[in-house]
Amino acid sequence: MPGRATGVKLAGMRAYRAAILRFADDHSPLYEADGLLVVGPDAQGRRVVRAVGDHAALVGNYPGLAVEDLRGKLIAPGFIDLHVHYPQTDVIGAPAAGLLPWLENYTFPHETRFADPAHAAEVAEVFLDELARHGVTTALAFSTSHPASVDAIFEKARARGLRFITGKVLQDRHSPDGVRDETEQSLIDTEALIQRWHGVDRLGYAITPRFAPTSTPAQLRGAGELAAKYPDVWIQSHVAENRDEVRWAAELFPESRSYLGVYGDFGLLRERAVYAHCIHLDQADRELMASTGTVAAVSPTSNLFLGSGFFDYAAADAAGMRYGLASDVGGGTSFSPFHTMLAAYCVGREGQTKPGLSLTPGQLWWQHTAGAARALGLEGVVGNLQPGHEADFVVLNPQATPLLARKTAQADSLDELLFALIVLGDDRVVERTTIAAAQHR
Ligand code: GUN
Ligand code: ZN
Repeated sequence: MPGRATGVKLAGMRAYRAAILRFADDHSPLYEADGLLVVGPDAQGRRVVRAVGDHAALVGNYPGLAVEDLRGKLIAPGFIDLHVHYPQTDVIGAPAAGLLPWLENYTFPHETRFADPAHAAEVAEVFLDELARHGVTTALAFSTSHPASVDAIFEKARARGLRFITGKVLQDRHSPDGVRDETEQSLIDTEALIQRWHGVDRLGYAITPRFAPTSTPAQLRGAGELAAKYPDVWIQSHVAENRDEVRWAAELFPESRSYLGVYGDFGLLRERAVYAHCIHLDQADRELMASTGTVAAVSPTSNLFLGSGFFDYAAADAAGMRYGLASDVGGGTSFSPFHTMLAAYCVGREGQTKPGLSLTPGQLWWQHTAGAARALGLEGVVGNLQPGHEADFVVLNPQATPLLARKTAQADSLDELLFALIVLGDDRVVERTTIAAAQHR
């Protein structure tokens, strides 16, 4: 039987021939112009990358294995969105004079509707379709304050076999009727949801205080206690996005050294804690992020749309802070990782530290794949196509539009190819999104 000769069992294995992008341990991009990706079950039955590399060098190890010929296409790790709000799918593009009026006038009214499980289920389906269409295979997402909104999206993510993390928003003050929760019940609900969902298949729970101004100290304390009790559960929130918000947090928590310090004071800074934005931080804040293993979800399209400011890459790197990229839909303007990477490039050029950086396409792509996985504590699990990683990947078409076809045909280096995709790419480039076993689109 084919396969016996080399001792390789072919049951459940699949192979793809295409150009392949993955990342080395030092974060640099690795590229096979004519590559082979072999996917199959591991000892635990998870679908993982079994082998990857040059086609000619590898194919002889798998006699009898059918290889799907995708030459002309680029296989790359599925993208990871480090911060996104599924209930804000319909909020994209809502104009407002900055964060706080945007929340009050658009976001909270929209989120009120998620008390209705049927509405939550309908939006969850659209949202997950959008992630797949854009090549996003893992997300750390906000639900709303309604526990049913969490059940709705977890049920659908589970059915699709997605690696997906979300949580019930905690917001027991300064929030209108319809989204405001009640302190004690919110913590009971959070713990029940952790027990129901965390670690089920590929799902994970995130303790989700919306942001310090909408939680009482008692709610933040309770969230911190749960974070200590369940150390492998994630934490997600927002910090230092907007100057008015920073002032408000300082008024509400005068004892804390800084806005970020509020979260530290309540035990909410640790590994697996992800804070969106992190724009208006100081040096001590950045060092606190680094020393606690807390990470930033850099959300450049949101920061540009809401006029919040520019993430300071140079200062983050100097402090040894970890970060990854995020859409922050619906403050963000696009589900597309290509749009997010382009906006991150522009933000890096601007920066706060002059002269600005020129992030390389490999760095940008890493921040949205392997780097985002590392930020989540999922290094070695998702976000890369090295052997042993779960087989979440995208098939990209570098000829998806006439201009892209022209531009990629002229690319003389990997940097030029990746930059063409980042600058000109969108969902038209994503030909296929494969989530471990299941294939979408
Ligand atoms: N701060 C508190 N809530 C939100 C939100 O929904 N979006 C953004 N961008 N910032 C927030
Ligand atoms: Zn957000």
